[in-house]
Amino acid sequence: MVLVSAKEMIEKAHEGHYAIPAFNTNNLEWTKCILTACEQAKSPVIIQASEGAAKYMGGYKMVVDMVADLHDSMQITVPVALHLDHGTYEGAKACIEAGFTSVMFDGSHYDIDENIAKSKDIIALAHSKGVSVECEVGGIGGVEDGVASNGELADPAECKAVADLGVDFLACGIGNIHGKYPENWAGLSFDRLNEINEAVDGKPLVLHGGSGIPFDQTSKAITMGVSKINVNTELQLVFADATRKYVEAGKDLEGKGYDPRKLL
Ligand code: 13P
Repeated sequence: MVLVSAKEMIEKAHEGHYAIPAFNTNNLEWTKCILTACEQAKSPVIIQASEGAAKYMGGYKMVVDMVADLHDSMQITVPVALHLDHGTYEGAKACIEAGFTSVMFDGSHYDIDENIAKSKDIIALAHSKGVSVECEVGGIGGVEDGVASNGELADPAECKAVADLGVDFLACGIGNIHGKYPENWAGLSFDRLNEINEAVDGKPLVLHGGSGIPFDQTSKAITMGVSKINVNTELQLVFADATRKYVEAGKDLEGKGYDPRKLL
């Protein structure tokens, strides 16, 4: 298996006070761009797909095969983990079966007891197969995959309860949201991040909604225990821009219609 669990790369990052980029993919082109950039930067990377994105691409097995085959054919030398983003209970189990090397079970919309019970099941199953696990406490605001959650500041005691289950890294709301940040966004809550970091006693933390957070806030969060930064929207904006430029340059009018090889 060419793809690795995310556990070791995240732990190294946590110890070394840096963070692993976790980029969402939606197709072949995104995946190639992510791998090319991270190979150039000599950075380990987590490639992640939501359940909706995986369905669009042809299913979990298709995503595993695509990422593993590209890793091979592009002769990628940096560690690459394939992670399920915001997985349901059933989705996380299916991804473990299909060959994902890391999964997120997002039980943040359940009450805390049910979140704990389901997280525990997924952690046991994943760890029995060498797959790393991310769980979530406290919803992350914004809309992702059609699902809206009310952003909140996660409760440090609840974070501790899930961290104590043996999860490998933990996502917790600290004022971050998915998608574009509104003009009047209050910024990350470093007070809450500090309380959570102390409560979870050194468990690596995950910052969702990484697109558009000012760099000084991202860097500060990394010094306070964040070891995985999720980025999706910035890739969407780059590809939207590339598509617009392609059309504006008249490349679609050269008698060929749309040629994906000419887009980037
Ligand atoms: P952004 O779309 O805001 O970058 O967030 C991505 C994310 O957190 C995926 O889980």
